[in-house]
Amino acid sequence: MQEQKKRALSGIQPTNTPHLGNYLGAMRNWVTLSREFDALYFIADLHSITADMNPAMLRKQTLESFVLLLAMGIEPDKSTVFVQSHVPAHCELCWLLNCYTPYGELSRMTQFKDKSKKQPENINAGLFTYPVLMAADILLYQADYVPVGIDQKQHLEIARNTAARFNGAFSETFKLPEPYTSPATAKIMSLAVPDKKMSKSDSNQNATVFVLDERDTIIRKFKRAVTDSEAQVSYREGDPNKAGINNLISIYCAFTEKTIVQTESEWQGKGYGEFKLAVGEVVADGLKDIQEKYNRLSSDKQYINDCLKTGAQKAAAIAKRTLAKAQRKVGLMAVDS
Ligand code: TRP
Repeated sequence: MQEQKKRALSGIQPTNTPHLGNYLGAMRNWVTLSREFDALYFIADLHSITADMNPAMLRKQTLESFVLLLAMGIEPDKSTVFVQSHVPAHCELCWLLNCYTPYGELSRMTQFKDKSKKQPENINAGLFTYPVLMAADILLYQADYVPVGIDQKQHLEIARNTAARFNGAFSETFKLPEPYTSPATAKIMSLAVPDKKMSKSDSNQNATVFVLDERDTIIRKFKRAVTDSEAQVSYREGDPNKAGINNLISIYCAFTEKTIVQTESEWQGKGYGEFKLAVGEVVADGLKDIQEKYNRLSSDKQYINDCLKTGAQKAAAIAKRTLAKAQRKVGLMAVDS
């Protein structure tokens, strides 16, 4: 008998159009994991509305992120790809878990504190219970592994705590998920301020390379990338002066599959200008296939709609079993159908 594959699950918020940091830090990894695991990936649109979000943008970016996952190589008939809000069980389980998650635990979340500072006019209850919805996302599917970045580890801890508390109170209901951090996951920095993470909201136009940027734009952004005055393509971990060049080397390596040492020797004695252009070119070349596939898929509205529907149905079929179990355990009365 074939051994049951472990299940991996992750979500990405459609708060922006995906950039190089999202791609190299998460999405590209998801593609690799989808070959090894029974993978579920979703667009976390319900999480995005905890922030100020323009409705038209949210709609556009949800679709864009979904299509991009397919364009990057997640196969919708092998993995389960869906939009969070299309599976109502996420909200339903979230409410149950809200009632078994202590206020104190949520108020200690660093991301809640950070976001409250960032949006002081909009500290809504959803922002506060954000980790509970995330716990519901994960626990509904009895996931073994959750590939997430460091910034999400605390959230995963809450999911584990809540699961353990619930299991303790009502008997085994949820699997305790493990974080999955891959050594290959690169942390990509801003091209303009390289000691800051690459982010969609950078005011500098040249700081962030978006996955759907055109070739010329990509190359222009890399040409303007901030480096240092040493003019030597060498990687020095942790040296603040080298943050820019370190970042460029990481990106170059990620796209060429060369090692740092190989890259340094390839570029020895050559200037930054030439290197920056080369990084721009390997990135543009590397994103070309994704962009072409994205454009092809985007024009096939019927196919995308079918994928959205099938993804939601597959996810809902799994989710509803866990939800029913949790509802029964806490004592919600069922009605025979
Ligand atoms: N909070 C995650 C982020 O901002 C996105 C997310 C929502 C998620 N639900 C999840 C990630 C469940 C992993 C598992 O990146």
